[in-house]
This record gives sequence, structure tokens and C-alpha cells, in this order.
Amino acid sequence: MDTSFTLPGGFLWGASTSAHQTEGGNTHSDWWAFEHSGLTDRVEEPSGVACDSYHRWPEDMDLLAGLGFTDYRFGIEWARIEPAPGEFDADAVAHYRRMVEGARARGLRPLVTLHHFTHPLWFAERGGWAAKGSEDLFARYVEAAAPVFAEGVDHVCTINEPNMVAVMVTALTTLTGGGTLPEHGMPLPDEATAEALARAHRRAVDSVKSLAPHVRTGWSVANQPCRAEPGGEQRAADYRRTREDVFLEAAHGDDWIGVQAYTRTRIGPAGPLPVPDGAERTLTGWEYAPDALADAVRHTAATVPGTPIVVTENGIATSDDERRVAYTTEALTGLARAMADGVDVRGYFHWSALDNYEWGSFRPTFGLIAVDRDTFVRTPKPSAAWLGAIGRTRSLPTVTP
Ligand code: FCB
Repeated sequence: MDTSFTLPGGFLWGASTSAHQTEGGNTHSDWWAFEHSGLTDRVEEPSGVACDSYHRWPEDMDLLAGLGFTDYRFGIEWARIEPAPGEFDADAVAHYRRMVEGARARGLRPLVTLHHFTHPLWFAERGGWAAKGSEDLFARYVEAAAPVFAEGVDHVCTINEPNMVAVMVTALTTLTGGGTLPEHGMPLPDEATAEALARAHRRAVDSVKSLAPHVRTGWSVANQPCRAEPGGEQRAADYRRTREDVFLEAAHGDDWIGVQAYTRTRIGPAGPLPVPDGAERTLTGWEYAPDALADAVRHTAATVPGTPIVVTENGIATSDDERRVAYTTEALTGLARAMADGVDVRGYFHWSALDNYEWGSFRPTFGLIAVDRDTFVRTPKPSAAWLGAIGRTRSLPTVTP
């Protein structure tokens, strides 16, 4: 039997994007350089003009508001705002300020991400997060970006998936050193990077609060739901502790914490296992696991009790939009049950608003809205109308398993 769950008042209902994945032309960033470095065949194609959202953001927002969403999570790009050390581009700051005002004018509440994987190239070249003083540089950028969030923004995400940022440092160091990455699962996050990110987060929170005290600050963690196969219980707990929990705990005392969940990792006595033969996989190769979201919010609530949760990403890479609706219905069912059990969830943002650049390729299509790669024409998929409408009904569809 299908039932429904009424969202609490003020619940954020939106879709997510990031700057680098949608804007195009992020030429001063380390990712742009990486995409053209030939370092790894995991980069199938460069981001190029991406979705051209640097110019087409009004169209993106028109669509999202028209579909029924009341909230929009988007990022601002450090490499555009500070293309050279200490040189701030007033036009870039004004651009993002216009986006905030444009969102508000359309009835969308912006949740602004200050850092989403990409860095100015100069910052990477001076040693990235692990180099001395990185947190001061981040705070200086955040302060320069203050006009963007000074008014009209209630939520700021300082750093997206710090655990993945630290994992990427390990991966890059391994690759450049001629080493090999684990066949399944992720390598350990780089420790110096992880510690520096936690310091940078705290500094950024202080900067935002001192300039815009009304803003509710948090960071978003890539959750690592695991399924321990017989004998793998301890390995699974260790895997999750090192790759997720330390980053959740660093959020202690924040106004909110971002949960980002897509899939799960199976772990046996010798470590992470491949997706079993016959299990459904999405276009990223990840196991189809809509129950990952409920696992992630429950685990987060247990790890940082008392911290309100915002689901800042959840979604599926598929070319079959009916699978997107099925996946999301199940994920939302699990979310509704967790909320009914008392987990304090304040918002849900679907990844992603648009089919975009998925860190090496445009192939994994997570979007509610298709983007033609030649004309950039946007076409909402049926899932977009379905999910957006929940912004009007304020009622989650739930299914009985
Ligand atoms: C997350 C990232 C986001 C997107 C999704 C699929 O790790 O934050 O940019 O690529 O995965």
C-alpha cells in the first residue's frame, strides 16, 4: 500500500549543482589543469563549456522554480573569485551575488557551497590543503565572497565532501608516484589534508558568522554505507570510521550537517568487494542501493547527535528516467521512515538539477533536466516534474516494501 509523509514546516526541497560541473570554462582551477594533464585515463574528456550555466543560470533557475522546487543548492568558484593569490575579481563576486538575487526573485532559497572539489591552480601549486597557512587563505577567500551570502542566503556549505577531497589527494599522490589504487573501495583519506580541511572549515564558519551572523553553516560529508559480508564486520566498521566518521565528528557544534548518499560498499574479511554479479549497477558502476540514504541519515544522526541534517545530495546516474523515479521513491521512503523515528532532517536536495560534468565524463547522467551537449537546450525529464511537485504538495510519496 502506498502512503505519504507530510514534510515539516520550513523543510528545504531542492536540487543541487556545483560550479565546476555546470558553469564551463573554469580555466584557473586545478581541475581544469588536471583534465588536460593526461595523468590518468579516468578523465575521458575535459569539462569544456560544461552546461554553460555561467551564462544560462537564469534558465536553470526558471526551470527549477517552475517545477515546484523551493530551494536550490549551487556553488561559487574560488578559482574565479581569486584567480591569482590575493587578487579578487569583483565581477565574479557580483556574478554570484546576481545568482543569489535571481534565485530569491524566483522564489528559490539558495544554499550556497563555497568549495566543491576545485581549487585555484595557484593554491594547488603551493601544496594544497596540507601546506602551511591553507586555512588562512581559505578564510581570506570566504571573506572576499561575503557580498554573495551577506543577504538572502540562509544556508552556507563551507566544503563539499572533505573526505573525498582527502581521498583524492591520496589517489593523486599514488598515481603520480607510479603506485596503484585499490581495485575496490576507496584509499584512505590523506591525513594532513583531512586535518587541514577541518581547520579550514572552522575558520570559514567563523568568517561567515562574523560577516553574516544569520547564516546557518555546515559541511557535507560523502556517506559510506557499508554492507558487511560474513566475517567483514570489523573491516566495515574501520572502513566507515576512517572514511566517514572522523569527518562527521569534525562537524560537531555546527548548525547542520550535509548528508550525501548514493550507494553502499560491500566489505568482506579482506576488505571491499566488487559489486556482485547480477546486482543492478548504475551508469557510474555503483550498486543500485536506494536504501543507502536511510542508512546515511540514521548513521549521521547516531554519530553527531543533536545536529540537524540536510540531505545535500542523493540521486542516480541512469539513462532510464523511470529507474530514477523508482530509486528516489525508495530513498524518500527510507528518509520518511527515519524522520518518523525521530531523525532530525531539515531538507532534501537531489543530485542533480542538470546532466552535468561528472568529474571526467558527461556519461553518467544524474540530471532531472537533460542538457543537449551541442545546443545546451534544457529538457526536464518526467522525474523533474514528479520530484518538483513535492515542493507544492509538501508530501513525500512512500511505498511499502
Ligand atoms: C558527489 C559529488 C558530486 C557528484 C556526485 C555524483 O561525490 O559531490 O559533485 O559528482 O558525487
